[in-house]
Amino acid sequence: MRWFVTRRTCRSHPRLGGRYFLAYRWTPSPMRILSGIQPSGVLHIGNYFGMMQPAIALQSQGEAFYFIADYHALTTLHDPLALRENSRRVALDFLACGLDPARAALFRQSDVPQVTELAWILNTVTPMGLLERAHSYKDKIARGLAASAGLFTYPTLMAADILIYDSDVVPVGRDQKQHVEITRDLAIKMNETYGQILKLPEPRISTATAIVPGLDGQKMSKSYGNTIDLFGSEKETQKRVMSITTDSTPVEAPKNPDTSSIFQLYSLFASPNEIAEMRADFEKGGRGYGDFKKQLFAKLWDYFAPMRKRREEILAQPDYINEVLAQGAAHANAIADVVMTRVRQAVGL
Ligand code: TYM
Repeated sequence: MRWFVTRRTCRSHPRLGGRYFLAYRWTPSPMRILSGIQPSGVLHIGNYFGMMQPAIALQSQGEAFYFIADYHALTTLHDPLALRENSRRVALDFLACGLDPARAALFRQSDVPQVTELAWILNTVTPMGLLERAHSYKDKIARGLAASAGLFTYPTLMAADILIYDSDVVPVGRDQKQHVEITRDLAIKMNETYGQILKLPEPRISTATAIVPGLDGQKMSKSYGNTIDLFGSEKETQKRVMSITTDSTPVEAPKNPDTSSIFQLYSLFASPNEIAEMRADFEKGGRGYGDFKKQLFAKLWDYFAPMRKRREEILAQPDYINEVLAQGAAHANAIADVVMTRVRQAVGL
């Protein structure tokens, strides 16, 4: 809900009769939904269940903005051809999975360069300690990534991504929760310093899919090399599923479904009855992990069949992706300009 200034005719008032005057009206405004995904590699089913599927489900419930975070990908990817190609493929995959450009703006982050201006302004009020506590930064440094200023200030750019569209809701996986909390902290800091200029967003994390496990049971992630790609070939996908790490429980012995990545992954694709059946089969004993993996692969492969078909259809229309991205960027720019005008005015630029 937002306040709007409106012009109304008042015929009944004895003095104002027939004239226009300004009035405030409490008008419902659509919920703004925003999320982003880095084009730093091939998308996997953790991306799909953690962010893409919830984002697609939300697109009919408000004004949605989904973008390809290519500025962010520059913190780890320095190959221009790969960056361009990955960005296009993220757009293709997102569309194939059901993003409807008539409902959601899909665009490249770098097509709204105002976001880097807002990131700079946010940087000027960002406490160093806040960035030093960011898990994602500490994690990347621990994995041997060079500690660049871009990597360090990654959360400020992400905050700008969110705040520049007056976003209400941010659908993300659990690993991004802290970044959305930092965004809220920075919005509060700006509002305390300059008045109420930025809106506080809420993360939207679905409990069932907050952390999709990878082949080794850790969080599925490109950087851990434990992914199942969203649109991998049949052979490769089967190979990955068959390589899921298991313990050495013999075929005939009962198995614990709650500690098994096979069962957790199967639960993402199957119906409640099918999930209950697999649980019972685990607990009964008599079936080996190889068997369960085959069952998981069959389910997963079927699940994505309509999306693979849609992907082929999109690939057959060479201009479609460019048109969608251009249209999305135009919409996103219009909103970003409104917020940036407000911010520039407030800070004295
Ligand atoms: P990225 O590109 O790493 O991941 C995109 C989305 O996928 C989710 N995700 C997962 N969810 C559950 N289980 C998993 N194993 C899994 N792996 C990935 C992530 O949580 C994320 O939602 N910083 C962001 C990109 C970004 C952004 C933003 C997001 C930039 N600006 C503004 C939201 C709003 C990132 O690196 O996501």
